[in-house]
Amino acid sequence: MDTIVDTSVFLGKFLYFFLEAFAYKIIPKRKKSVAGEIVLITGAGSGLGRKLAMHFARLGAILVLWDIDEEGNMETCRLAKEKSAVKAFAYTCDCSKRRDIYRVADQVRKEVGDVTILINNAGVVTGQTFLDTPDHMIERSFLVNAISHFWTYKAFLPAMIKANHGHLVCIASVAGLVGFNRLSDYSASKFAAFGFAESLFFELCVLKKTEIKTTIICPSLINTGMFEGCKTKRPFLLPLLEQEYVAKRILNAILEEQVYVLIPKFLYYALILKQIISPKMSIALTEYLGVDTCMASFEGRKKEKELQTERENTNN
Ligand SMILES: NC(=O)c1ccc[n+]([C@@H]2O[C@H](COP(=O)([O-])OP(=O)(O)OC[C@H]3O[C@@H](n4cnc5c(N)ncnc54)[C@H](O)[C@@H]3O)[C@@H](O)[C@H]2O)c1
Repeated sequence: MDTIVDTSVFLGKFLYFFLEAFAYKIIPKRKKSVAGEIVLITGAGSGLGRKLAMHFARLGAILVLWDIDEEGNMETCRLAKEKSAVKAFAYTCDCSKRRDIYRVADQVRKEVGDVTILINNAGVVTGQTFLDTPDHMIERSFLVNAISHFWTYKAFLPAMIKANHGHLVCIASVAGLVGFNRLSDYSASKFAAFGFAESLFFELCVLKKTEIKTTIICPSLINTGMFEGCKTKRPFLLPLLEQEYVAKRILNAILEEQVYVLIPKFLYYALILKQIISPKMSIALTEYLGVDTCMASFEGRKKEKELQTERENTNN
């Protein structure tokens, strides 16, 4: 009897949520207000982080900006203050270091307050074949792209749980859903970031902390400079995305409290296809799209390389 009741309830919920999701495809979801929210963006010194900072500044949020690149981060802070009269605070933080994260997080709590929207955006890419990737670069990819998320959650989630209010945003990647040639460490670290954010999403649901939202973003190539030099063969299917377009999509997803966002939309179909076609068909598809060779011309962010060499020289 219990099974019949459980199954009927499940089918009822399933149908209701299906119709709800369908309705939201037609009627846009109500957007929440972020005015007065304390928004922490890691990797705010350039690219998507900076763009997101500008959008949140315009919407009246209080900004907490973290980056290892002090100069870039200060510039974002200056631009945000110029954009609107919001409060913006810049902190130099090396997200590859747990102690640095906890130290700066303590400082933020004392000087600004409890973070209510956490955007884990800082990221690095090596872009070499696996055997050519030095060990410390593999570790760095994991520390920045994935492990840092564990520490930022540990630092800011308790206050969100106490208030049953908050939003956790993970800037992952399409490389967090599919493996790519020359992106072994990056892709594996993004899979880890995705898995961590999704696990916490379910954990918070079980804890009934329904007012702590999760958004996981998986974009393909964006013209921020991080993947400088990369080219795709079929730009009409996999275009090099404009950073402003992606920042707007991310902002919209946060305001509408969407959970999973793949950019561009073509990725939804490509992922379904990947599950049902044979590996040989997958290879033929990646060759057609030019995904197999797109990293061959990778140059990466020059400034990031310079900073990395400078840090390595200082450490030696
Ligand atoms: N650019 C793309 O094609 C692309 C595609 C998918 C996902 N993403 C992801 O989007 C996010 C933003 O990337 P972006 O394209 O704006 O690149 P970006 O290089 O402009 O921004 C990354 C930022 O992270 C900062 N950072 C690097 N190491 C850090 C550390 N140890 N501590 C603190 N900050 C550190 C950098 O200084 C930089 O400001 C990243 O997580 C990236 O993996 C980018």
